[in-house]
Amino acid sequence: MFTRVCKEDTVFEGEMRLVIADSHVIVLAWAFGGEIKAFQGVCPHTNAPLDTADFDGEVLTCPLHNWTWDLRTGDPIHPQESRLAEYPVKIEDGVVYIDTDGVAPFFAER
Ligand code: FES
Repeated sequence: MFTRVCKEDTVFEGEMRLVIADSHVIVLAWAFGGEIKAFQGVCPHTNAPLDTADFDGEVLTCPLHNWTWDLRTGDPIHPQESRLAEYPVKIEDGVVYIDTDGVAPFFAER
């Protein structure tokens, strides 16, 4: 089921923000040249929230140990790191909705 998270005009190309939908912490990001996407908002390395992660408009970097992901796809820049789980996004009448059904954050094997 899609949950309303914010207005579309509060999301800007090249930026990201953390939102909550159904108790899931989610990175809502719009990479340059891409579209608005939603990924797990906790780092697959240690489950730390990615609220202070750096986003350069393309690559998200976790501040703790510098794991990095391409936010057009959620794929890690370094293949040995875990990818980010992606949530379906829907935009209707200027409102962003995210569906959390059946999506769980990925975690690295430790
Ligand atoms: S907690 Fe994110 S890279 Fe280690």
